[in-house]
Amino acid sequence: MNRKKILVIHGPNLNLLGRREPGVYGTATLEQINNVLKKIASKKNFGLVITQSNYEGEIVDLIGKAKGKFAGLLINPAAYTHTSVAIRDAIAAASLLTIEVHLSNIYSREEFRHKSIISPVVKGTITGFGPKSYTLGIETLIDLINNP
Ligand code: DQA
Repeated sequence: MNRKKILVIHGPNLNLLGRREPGVYGTATLEQINNVLKKIASKKNFGLVITQSNYEGEIVDLIGKAKGKFAGLLINPAAYTHTSVAIRDAIAAASLLTIEVHLSNIYSREEFRHKSIISPVVKGTITGFGPKSYTLGIETLIDLINNP
């Protein structure tokens, strides 16, 4: 039987994790976070495709091509959370089980971060737990895929 696959999308500037505002985002690098995600997925017999992009259109394309190929999507849209109608529409069109994650608590930061354009079209959002937001996100996604 083919392993079910999850698509992980990290949005803009998340390639800089570890050096980027460590007081806000912590010291874990994206590679370290990805390694933990890979371990969790392989333990649960899921395949993982991990991507990072600083480009809105590229993220829209990735989501558009994911339909039918992936059982779920784990996304940190980063700054696009607050601005991108295009990414929101792509998620809505993909009808893919999607969890949104954020390292920081977007509601305890600047007012412009309080609104997620993405949240209304995802299954749920996990925000504020640092790298644990990602692990909670992938574990929950796998649970939901296995027990719909
Ligand atoms: C972020 C929160 C966003 O407001 C910010 O633009 C990011 C990262 C987070 O993971 O906390 O780049 O999505």
